[in-house]
Amino acid sequence: MNSNYELRMPGVVYHGENALESLVSIVQGKYNRAVIFTDKGIEKAGILEEPIRYLTQGGVSLEILNELPSEPTCDQAQKIIDRFITMKADIIIAIGGGSVMDIAKLASVTGNGALKVRDLLKSPHLCKKTIKTIMIPTTAGTGSEATPNCIVAIPEKELKVGIVHTDMIADFVLLDGRMIRNLPKKIAASTGVDALAHAIECYTSNKANSFSDLFALEALKLIFSNIEKACEDVNAIKEKGNMLLASFYAGVAISASGTTAVHALSYPLGGKYHIPHGIANAIMLLPVLKYNKPYCLEEFATVYDFVHSPEVQLLSKDEKAEKLLKRLEEILHKLSIETSLRSYGIKESDLDTLVQAGMEVERLLMNNKREVTREAARELYLQVI
Ligand SMILES: NC(=O)c1ccc[n+]([C@@H]2O[C@H](COP(=O)([O-])OP(=O)(O)OC[C@H]3O[C@@H](n4cnc5c(N)ncnc54)[C@H](O)[C@@H]3O)[C@@H](O)[C@H]2O)c1
Ligand SMILES: [Zn+2]
Repeated sequence: MNSNYELRMPGVVYHGENALESLVSIVQGKYNRAVIFTDKGIEKAGILEEPIRYLTQGGVSLEILNELPSEPTCDQAQKIIDRFITMKADIIIAIGGGSVMDIAKLASVTGNGALKVRDLLKSPHLCKKTIKTIMIPTTAGTGSEATPNCIVAIPEKELKVGIVHTDMIADFVLLDGRMIRNLPKKIAASTGVDALAHAIECYTSNKANSFSDLFALEALKLIFSNIEKACEDVNAIKEKGNMLLASFYAGVAISASGTTAVHALSYPLGGKYHIPHGIANAIMLLPVLKYNKPYCLEEFATVYDFVHSPEVQLLSKDEKAEKLLKRLEEILHKLSIETSLRSYGIKESDLDTLVQAGMEVERLLMNNKREVTREAARELYLQVI
């Protein structure tokens, strides 16, 4: 475990049945011109009306950028930011999943257009917040509302990369289960597994520490007991609220620790083959955790004890780790996520490219307790083809 670590969190976080109502008091008398960052899917889901009502009640004038793309490239993000700058806003409200929140974060640190997104790719330390952000996640999720990270694709390199700077951490976060009530099951499942991956990777990371452990374990407990119902049942608002809380906790765990080889090896699946982030992680999750098992026995056993009742504490560490992996397998099966690369058009002939791209994500591979060699990466990809 790391001996030096730090924890940075969003300014204020609201969670609960009526978390959205806090919008009124956040903006009232403090801001005049708000811009909502969102996308067409969210607009179609009919979940913008309520936040708009509260913002209007809070007395701000509103403009809406509703054409944000999913899994944005750096240039797509730049185009949105160029339009945003002409709007002269004094507060940003991101209502959406990770894609929307990440673009909103970038817009808040580019100094009203003084910096371009491509400048920040090269020199992330230049990020400087010039406008505050309110994040309302509509997937549960990436945890982007908690992290200093923003992920964009670089088309010419067929890669996804993270820009990381503490100024990108949200000023206000509103976690309200109603925002994910119409989330289609497929998206709820893959984004839920993304949160699960964040939590278990951060807990078993070389960068794990007391802060990240606290949030990762709580996230795992919430996810294990809520993910299935939250995805299956449209009316399970309590479980959906718990999933939002869990993905936020897992995001905090990322800020304090870091993800590992699951995320590292899943990046090329998004960057080159455009598999959505959550699905890409669901594909790599079990093979990587099984590979890591001999090096993470203690951690897996602790997770098992933490998320289950104490009567099973008599099992050996190895048995607990095995049971944890079995339970994960069961969750993935119940959520019906397609975890074979072949179904996304990837074949054995793509292996070399995948291995090359995966090995380049050194930033995360170095967090993995068990070294991932080129041969191991190849074997892991081969398992899911
Ligand atoms: N910054 C971070 O810390 C971080 C962490 C993980 C992932 N990411 C990034 O986040 C992006 C993925 O975000 P995501 O998985 O949340 O998906 P997303 O934001 O790309 O959304 C996926 C789809 O779901 C729809 N949708 C979202 N909420 C909905 C709702 N409530 N009802 C109906 N439809 C809804 C959207 O319209 C979109 O079509 C990727 O680019 C990934 O790399 C960022
Ligand atoms: Zn993720």
